[in-house]
Amino acid sequence: MIRKCLFPVAGYGTRFLPATKSMPKEMLPIVNKPLVQYGVEEAIDAGLCEIGFVTGRGKRAIADHFDMNYELEHQIEGTGKEKYLESIRSVIERGVFSFTRQSAMRGLGDAILTGERLMGDQAFGVILSDDLCVTEGDGVMSQMVKLYEEFNCCIIAIQEVPQDKIEKFGVIAGDEIRSDLYRVNDMVEKPPAAEAPSNLAIIGRYILTPDIFDVLRKTPPGKNGEVQITDALMTLAKEGKVVAYKFEGTRFDCGSVDGFVEATNYCYQHIYEPV
Ligand code: G1P
Repeated sequence: MIRKCLFPVAGYGTRFLPATKSMPKEMLPIVNKPLVQYGVEEAIDAGLCEIGFVTGRGKRAIADHFDMNYELEHQIEGTGKEKYLESIRSVIERGVFSFTRQSAMRGLGDAILTGERLMGDQAFGVILSDDLCVTEGDGVMSQMVKLYEEFNCCIIAIQEVPQDKIEKFGVIAGDEIRSDLYRVNDMVEKPPAAEAPSNLAIIGRYILTPDIFDVLRKTPPGKNGEVQITDALMTLAKEGKVVAYKFEGTRFDCGSVDGFVEATNYCYQHIYEPV
C-alpha cells in the first residue's frame, strides 16, 4: 500500500512576479482554491494521506493553509459562511502534513532526496502541483496507484506533446507493454527536439520506490547544473524498473501564465461549484 506523497514546493515562481514576491506560487488560486490544494486532494483521494512538503524560504503560507485557523473558525461558526471552509476542512481531517526545508535550490532530484526522511522506506507518490491534472473519473494519482499494485516498480505519468514543446520536459522512450503503458528504456531531461527519443513527455506525477534515494545520492548534476530526477530514474530504467503511463485526463501547465489562465477558465466552467 502506498500511503505517502511528496510535494516539492520550494521553487520561486519567478514567472508570476510580482504576485509571488511574498506569497508562494503554490498558493495562487485557481478560481477559489490554491493550486497546491488541487494536488493534495488528488493525493488524498488516491489514499495517499501522509503528505510531505519540501519547502523553502517564504513558504509558510502553505503550512498555515493545511492547518486549522481557530480565529477564522470561531468567527464564522454558526454563520452561513461555514460552507466556504468545507473543502479545506475535509482535506485537513483526512490528511497528515509534514514539512522539511530544502536549503539550496539544487534541482528536483535534490528536492526529492531532501524528502527522504518524510517518505521513509516505502514506495511513495510525488506530485508537482504546477501540473494541474483534471480527470472525469479517478484522479491521475489513483490511476497510477493501481498500476503500481500491478507492476511494483516506479511509475511515471507521460503525455504526447508537440515538437516545439519537447525541450521543456523530461522525455522517455520505451517498449509498449499495452496501449497506454511503456517499459522505459531511455529518458532525457529537456532535450532539444531534434535529439528527443520520442514525443512522450514526463508530467509531474511519479510513484517512486525507495531505492531511488540511493540512486539520487550518486546522481551527478545534469541539465542546468541541477540533480535531475529524470537522470536518477534512467538508472532504474536500465534495470527495467520504470513504467511510463499515458494517463487519462487533461494537464494544465500552471507554472506558465498561459497555462494558469487556461486552467482558471477551465475550472471556472467545469469544476467550480458556487457554494
Ligand atoms: C520537471 C521535470 C521534467 C518534467 C516536468 C513536468 O521539470 O524535471 O522532467 O517533464 O517537471 O512538469 P520542471 O518543469 O520542474 O522544470
